[in-house]
Amino acid sequence: MNEKMEFPYAFIDELLISQEEIEERIRVLGEQITEDYRDSENLLLLGLLRGSVMFITDLMKHIRRPMTMDFMSVSSYAGSESSGFVRIDSDHKTNIYGWDVILIDDIVDSGYTIHTVRKLLLERKPKSLKVCALLDKPERHKLDVQIDYCGFTIEDHFVVGYGLDIDEKGRNLPYIATVDLEKYHQLYG
Ligand code: IMP
Ligand code: MG
Repeated sequence: MNEKMEFPYAFIDELLISQEEIEERIRVLGEQITEDYRDSENLLLLGLLRGSVMFITDLMKHIRRPMTMDFMSVSSYAGSESSGFVRIDSDHKTNIYGWDVILIDDIVDSGYTIHTVRKLLLERKPKSLKVCALLDKPERHKLDVQIDYCGFTIEDHFVVGYGLDIDEKGRNLPYIATVDLEKYHQLYG
C-alpha cells in the first residue's frame, strides 16, 4: 500500500520511516535497555512532553524490568527553529535521587534541550542518567551531546509524526514523514 496516498496533512512531503521500521527498532531498544538495567530496581523513564509520548509508551512495553515513568515539559522551539533557550514549563514529580534515570526525547536537533535538561537532572543526584532519543540529526548539533540509545539517525529534514509536531500538528501520524516547509508556510504563514 502506498502510505503517501493517505497523508492526512497537506504539508507532508514524503514518508521517511515507516510504522513497521519504528516498531522493530523500538523493540530492539527495549531489549537492549532490559539487558542493560537487569540489576536495577529503580528504573525511571523520564519523558519530555509532548513529543516523546508515543515513543515512551511503545518503548516501555518492551522493557521487562520493574520501572516507573514521569514527564517534564520544556520548550525551546517556536515553529521549526530552535531558539537555543530552553525553558522548564513543568517539572517531574518523582524524587530522582538514587534512581537510574533514562531521559527520553523525540529528537535531538541542536542538542540544547538534552544538554540543559541533563545538567539540571544531574544536580538532583540520580544513581545514573542516560539519554534515549527516537531520532537524531547529527548535522544540526551545536553542542556535543551523548545519546546512549538512539532510534534512527536522519539527515537535516524537519519531520513530523510518531509524536513529533510542527506547531502541534502531525503528532498523530504512526510514521515519520518530512515536512515541505515552503508548503507549510503557504498554508499557515
Ligand atoms: P534541540 O534543543 O535543538 O535539540 O531541539 C529538540 C527539540 O526540538 C525536540 O524535542 C523537538 O521538540 C524539536 N524538534 C527539533 N527538530 C524537530 C523536527 O524535525 N520535527 C519536530 N520537532 C523537532
Ligand atoms: Mg516539539
